[in-house]
Amino acid sequence: MELRKINTKDAIAEWEYITNLPADENGLTNPYHGVSYEEFTEKVLPLLISYENPVGMPDWFVPETYYYLWDGDRLVGEFRIRHHLTPALRDGAGHIGYSIASDERGKGYGTEGLRLTLLIAREIVPEDEIYLRVNKDNVASQKVMLNNGGRIVGEDEGHYFVRIAK
Ligand SMILES: CC(C)(COP(=O)(O)OP(=O)(O)OC[C@H]1O[C@@H](n2cnc3c(N)ncnc32)[C@H](O)[C@@H]1OP(=O)(O)O)[C@@H](O)C(=O)NCCC(=O)NCCS
Repeated sequence: MELRKINTKDAIAEWEYITNLPADENGLTNPYHGVSYEEFTEKVLPLLISYENPVGMPDWFVPETYYYLWDGDRLVGEFRIRHHLTPALRDGAGHIGYSIASDERGKGYGTEGLRLTLLIAREIVPEDEIYLRVNKDNVASQKVMLNNGGRIVGEDEGHYFVRIAK
């Protein structure tokens, strides 16, 4: 299994993955649900690739790198790293967001994908710990975090705030 950074060579698999993800699931929003392959390769993919070194984005935008989890020749999940925190991210979504393809869930991909993502995030993130947030009703994602050493450090009405040591 490997994490591969978003790239143009894998465009077909990335398009299939991104456009099949629901528009909103457990707080993970996907504005590209259902876009055409043409629009994906012309606009969406270059935009997502540029997020690592953003140009012309608003001040609040934090560099974000997209990675895909591959098992052999199958793209099974997406993991994103936001390179540092802002006040909004500190009290919000934190450093890492992820999803696994709906027909590939419950096979350990979420746990292994977060483990591989943490290896990269530990090199990028300047804060002392990795910050994550999860909906209280999302038991699978809570387990993915706890399986990777996550500690619940707080909560609000709908979420747990989780930290993972660097
Ligand atoms: C959350 C998500 C990434 C988990 O991925 P996954 O590949 O199914 O995770 P794993 O197979 O590693 O399973 C982790 C644990 O959750 C359990 N689990 C999986 N699906 C579950 C479900 N629907 N309900 C309860 N537990 C579940 C597994 O049995 C496993 O338990 P274990 O650690 O005791 O063995 C995936 O369900 C997903 O993409 N959900 C939609 C997007 C999302 O919620 N993203 C996270 C936002 S914080």
